[in-house]
Amino acid sequence: MPVSLLTVGRFVDFPVSRDAKHSYDRTKRFAFPRKAPTVAAKPVAQRAKRLVVLVSGSGTNLQALLDEIAATGVEAYGAEIVAVGADRDGIEGLARAERAGLPTFVTKVKDYGTREEWDAALAEAVAAHEPDLVVSAGFMKIVGKEFLARFGGRFVNTHPALLPSFPGAHGVRDALAYGARVTGCTVHFVDDGVDTGPIIAQGVVEVRDEDDESALHERIKEVERRLLVDVVGRLARNGYRIEGRKVVIQ
Ligand code: GRF
Repeated sequence: MPVSLLTVGRFVDFPVSRDAKHSYDRTKRFAFPRKAPTVAAKPVAQRAKRLVVLVSGSGTNLQALLDEIAATGVEAYGAEIVAVGADRDGIEGLARAERAGLPTFVTKVKDYGTREEWDAALAEAVAAHEPDLVVSAGFMKIVGKEFLARFGGRFVNTHPALLPSFPGAHGVRDALAYGARVTGCTVHFVDDGVDTGPIIAQGVVEVRDEDDESALHERIKEVERRLLVDVVGRLARNGYRIEGRKVVIQ
């Protein structure tokens, strides 16, 4: 009958049997057979997941991911950023990526005849970096069919409101104008609606009487950055499944 590791104490790190010829004796700590013990196979180390991050602005969420991965290490965090894309030039988000030595690409709507062509070009530019997950970290464009056909179920967005309340480009302003007393941020998978995909995690932020849009947004972003870093790491390390509207991180 197998003896639990707790029973035999901290001196052994493999299962032993009570019937074993050299059973454990507290007074004879070294009474085990000298042949190599049978050791349970360790789980095979998972390869770090490849992330492409999309930005449109200051890129502080991108920076939070960069900082966490640098501090924790790619292997322990479970993911690395392999490229950063944007829909416009001259933004701090791209500058942050360049300072981190990452490849960048810019796919502008106005450079394409139709929105569909832009969407296909964006999908192609992202696919070139073979990502496991794509993270929209303040990317202010709605992607189309082609992009979702390729990256649906692995395209994560962060939104500065508690969805399904206040979707769209002005989530902070809309919550404030509505008179909500709490708002926050939502990390979710992207589907073909506007901020309607399955929710992965949310963070709550209190609205203060003296708040204007910018003060409230700054406090939301403090929570949002921590939430995004936590969620992306867990998705990458643990794996996940999407069951209807429910996201289960394994
Ligand atoms: C975030 O609040 C994001 O939810 C919103 O835009 C902001 C981006 O901030 N869509 P940053 O560019 O990461 O600093």
